[in-house]
Amino acid sequence: MSTPAAFLALEQASTVAGKVDLIGGTLLAVSLVVVAGLLAVNLYFIVRYRRGSPAPRPPLQISPGKLEAAWTTGTTLVFLGFFFWGAQLFVRMERPPPGATTIDVAARQWMWDFRQPNGRREFDTLHVPVGVPVRLRMTSEDVIHSFYAPSLRVKQDVVPGKTVSLWFQVTKAGTFTLFCSEFCGSKHAAMVGQIVAEPADRYAAWLAAGNPGSIARRGPALFVRYGCAGCHSPGGSVRAPPLERVYGSEVPVAGGGFVHADEAYLTDSILLPEKVVVAGYQPLMPSFQGVIPPGDLVELVAYLKTLGSASPPPARP
Ligand code: CUA
Repeated sequence: MSTPAAFLALEQASTVAGKVDLIGGTLLAVSLVVVAGLLAVNLYFIVRYRRGSPAPRPPLQISPGKLEAAWTTGTTLVFLGFFFWGAQLFVRMERPPPGATTIDVAARQWMWDFRQPNGRREFDTLHVPVGVPVRLRMTSEDVIHSFYAPSLRVKQDVVPGKTVSLWFQVTKAGTFTLFCSEFCGSKHAAMVGQIVAEPADRYAAWLAAGNPGSIARRGPALFVRYGCAGCHSPGGSVRAPPLERVYGSEVPVAGGGFVHADEAYLTDSILLPEKVVVAGYQPLMPSFQGVIPPGDLVELVAYLKTLGSASPPPARP
């Protein structure tokens, strides 16, 4: 990928790749036309109107104000057009379609740690099905990394203390390079992986072959280890909201109103317990930011979801 020609020939392996390239290519083409046009007019004028040339120099036929207004309006409209073209694609790329397969990603110095929907874990290699939308739920355990898959034309910074998501749909089977594109320490350049895209049936077979079980299976032990059980169990020493059937419910908030208990709410309540206080309870819970590593947090939240939900969570393939 070192020459411009190799870059232009980069394969398109996701549903958005062609659209991204079309915008990028059009911007490049328009820029080249403008540069070439300005250069040509410049050279022509330099020669024709050089000092002492006999070329006629009549007064301007059009008012400079009108010329300026037309020029400013025209270019503004053209660039607004580019803005809306890019913005609609950006919005589309930011919203994972419902029913996307969710894979948890933890980035750390210097590796990618993936957890498939059934709990199968892999490092630096990510198996995905072809033709199925895949959503990556990502967090970092130390510094800022960036998930970058050039062939899929997707890139997302992965920030510590925050859960970000990225989605894509691969259009053909193959192996695609995955880079970390944010300088993250001495081995940043070695933080390279691969995305292995397989037909859905082969992916399902691969998934079923490796450590089957639930991502939530360590949940009960984590629930005890981090001291959650001390307060959130029926015989707990402190009165804390029960967590059975909380996932998917509408939780009453101190001060009025309700909050929808989705995964983000569960995660936030563990890391930032004072952000939303449940009605009828005191804000006694300490923050577990920096205490529970992201990998354990994912499993803990998965476990909380198994405690029952107000509405059945969407089925995963
Ligand atoms: Cu991780 Cu660069």
